[in-house]
Amino acid sequence: MIETADLTFSLSHMAAMDFYSVSITCLLSLIALTLAEPVKFADCGSAVGQVSIVDINPCPTQPCQLHKGQSYGVNVTFNSAVDSKTSTAVVHGVIAGIPVPFPIPIQDGCKSGIACPIQKTLSYHYVNELPVKSEYPSIKLVVEWELRDDNSKDLFCIKFPVQIVS
Ligand SMILES: *[C@@H]1O[C@H](CO)[C@@H](O)[C@H](O)[C@H]1NC(C)=O
Repeated sequence: MIETADLTFSLSHMAAMDFYSVSITCLLSLIALTLAEPVKFADCGSAVGQVSIVDINPCPTQPCQLHKGQSYGVNVTFNSAVDSKTSTAVVHGVIAGIPVPFPIPIQDGCKSGIACPIQKTLSYHYVNELPVKSEYPSIKLVVEWELRDDNSKDLFCIKFPVQIVS
């Protein structure tokens, strides 16, 4: 679970970084227009797995700006430390430290790019969509994305800041 102080720090840190690196960001976004962008993420307790890359598409600047009414591609590359027949995604939006369920269309990880059963030591790409509803408020929040195994342990738990915009 995320702590409020942690969230406040990372969001203000990101804001300061944006302010001081506008020109670099512009350059990078030109490149990023054609590529899925690996985003900075924090691990929130991947108990039975290890995450290497998180791609959000499109996300030319960080924190990712999520436009209302659009859908974003999410691609998490991770290694499993366990065998598991199933995998289930659970997504929350953490607003001022409080996790609120963030609905996604497909919760079954085995229908999201992963060939199940999941095998120990193998690497997987979890590929899904994050739909941003038009009724969402224009706020900054942290997306916390978990993928749970047969025993409800986290194959991965990642979190990254986003900003919802019109
Ligand atoms: C997911 O990301 C990995 C690593 O960046 C890449 O090799 C793979 O092709 C991507 N898969 C999809 C469906 O985008």
